[in-house]
Amino acid sequence: MLNHAIISAALALATLPFAVQGAQLTARNQDPICAWIERAISSASNVYYPGDTLYNKGVAHWATTANQVSKCVVEPGTAADVGTVLRIVGGTRTPFAVKGAGHSPNPKFASTTGVHISMYRFNNVTYDADAQTAEIGTGLVWDNVYDALAPHGVNIVGGRVPGVGVAGFTLGGGYSWKTNQFGLTIDTLVAFELVRPDGKVVKVTHESDPQLFMGLKGGFNNFGIVTKFTLKTHPQSEVWGGPTQIGADHIDEVTDATVEWDATATDPKAQVMTTYTYARGELDITLFLFYDGPTPPAGMFDRFLAIPNHGSDVKTRPFADMVQSTPTAASYGFRGIFNAFSVLDTTRSLVDVIINETQYWGQQLSAKTGIITTYAVEPFLRSMYSHNTEQTAFPPTRSIPFLPFNIYYAWLNSTYDEEFYNAARVSTKVITDAAVAEGQRAAAEAPLYPNNAIFDTPISKVYGDNLPALRAVKRRVDPANVMGLAGGWKV
Ligand SMILES: Cc1cc2nc3c(=O)[nH]c(=O)nc-3n(C[C@H](O)[C@H](O)[C@H](O)COP(=O)(O)OP(=O)(O)OC[C@H]3O[C@@H](n4cnc5c(N)ncnc54)[C@H](O)[C@@H]3O)c2cc1C
Ligand SMILES: *[C@@H]1O[C@H](CO)[C@@H](O)[C@H](O)[C@H]1NC(C)=O
Ligand SMILES: *[C@@H]1O[C@H](CO)[C@@H](O)[C@H](O)[C@H]1NC(C)=O
Ligand SMILES: *[C@@H]1O[C@H](CO)[C@@H](O)[C@H](O)[C@H]1NC(C)=O
Repeated sequence: MLNHAIISAALALATLPFAVQGAQLTARNQDPICAWIERAISSASNVYYPGDTLYNKGVAHWATTANQVSKCVVEPGTAADVGTVLRIVGGTRTPFAVKGAGHSPNPKFASTTGVHISMYRFNNVTYDADAQTAEIGTGLVWDNVYDALAPHGVNIVGGRVPGVGVAGFTLGGGYSWKTNQFGLTIDTLVAFELVRPDGKVVKVTHESDPQLFMGLKGGFNNFGIVTKFTLKTHPQSEVWGGPTQIGADHIDEVTDATVEWDATATDPKAQVMTTYTYARGELDITLFLFYDGPTPPAGMFDRFLAIPNHGSDVKTRPFADMVQSTPTAASYGFRGIFNAFSVLDTTRSLVDVIINETQYWGQQLSAKTGIITTYAVEPFLRSMYSHNTEQTAFPPTRSIPFLPFNIYYAWLNSTYDEEFYNAARVSTKVITDAAVAEGQRAAAEAPLYPNNAIFDTPISKVYGDNLPALRAVKRRVDPANVMGLAGGWKV
């Protein structure tokens, strides 16, 4: 049915030259807004409907908890067409979604029952050797970016595992294998190409608009749709590292080595990540070692390498191969949730709590529906926040040197969604309370990383004292709150 109220509201917008065209329907589709978009966009873009193959690709997410059935999928091919779509959905107050690569498991963050915008066509990588920067499209996954930059012998601060989207990763912060050396991905940002909520395409830099530039560095879709990032590059040699699987019988050795690493490591080229997983009735550890060079300094990782394992793929390799070698705890097609908790120190007593939580919730929840629980211990250097003196939306403070630990649950049956969400909230609170109780008082005040935090985390836990500044930018750039029609973190 044609929705007359929506169409007449849209016609009232004098700024829309295509409003009259939009009132006509195509035979193929009865949704007036999708049909209007289809007529208004250029030949560089397309609209897909349920039943089209590319519709299914467009609405898919890494975790099925993030899926919704939209009226149509729009694949814009130019920034100007993104602007056209934003004018139409904004003018008609139509709920919409913006999806980079769909890796956020949070429901409704990159999905909608309205108009679903998929950014796939923004897939260019352009290296500028003189400026030592790369422009990358927001429809890419990191693997594409690494492959495109490798022939130039350069790299960028990006994702650690295969297949993760550049858009949400960068717009939320971005913790990388390179973070100890160069900071978060947002710390390497030179410029954004942004389609503002009014449809205008602008380049945003520190010079052009310092407040908006700050807001975009952690502020996701609050200020419009980003079509391109310009990021700093750095020379890239072969690297050393990869994953090792270690059984529960050696859990004390790996935990002690991780705790010692956190207390003593100083080389910013090195990184360790220890993940505890409960699956198929067993606790197992995946240890990730990384060194940004073909060979680590003698002895650096010996304590880890001496632990007996049941599968190891640690070697000298191209950077993209390191990323490809990294197993993700689960792949596409599971229900899933992440939750974030921040700690100040990786102490043995705290990791014991984390291990107990992995096992406790793994046992409790697997009784219901086949699952994995994974808890990641990520001992970055505390100097990682020192690589940027400009303000960024996230983290709101760089004076608390917090570590962004996280949990991940995967399951099969949607009947139990609420139980898993609730367990993810309870468990992160147990760990945070334990950190505070052992003297890490600032753990309770530390920011929570929005790319890992569960969907109903209070926004003040993400943006803290930056909220007034972010709200001021929001009022200026999006006075009609067009972006409020899309899901995700809202300032
Ligand atoms: C297997 C796996 C591994 C991960 N590893 C890491 C890691 O090592 N380090 C790390 O920091 N994070 C990691 N993450 C988290 C990751 O950063 C987030 O899931 C991120 O949001 C993924 O980006 P995306 O483009 O796929 O997001 P999407 O799910 O597509 O979008 C997330 C949010 O960003 C918004 N958004 C997307 N594109 C745009 C755009 N063009 N303009 C404006 N807003 C937009 C969406 O509307 C949505 O609200 C990992 C996630 C997974 C699933
Ligand atoms: C990608 O690059 C090609 C070649 O320069 C250009 O024609 C196209 O418009 C670019 N696409 C986007 C989405 O920027
Ligand atoms: C393990 O965690 C559960 C749930 O938080 C808790 O009830 C239990 O007391 C913990 N066990 C130990 C040994 O700490
Ligand atoms: C999901 O769980 C419910 C409740 O136990 C059960 O009735 C239903 O059959 C399950 N669905 C699937 C697909 O297994």
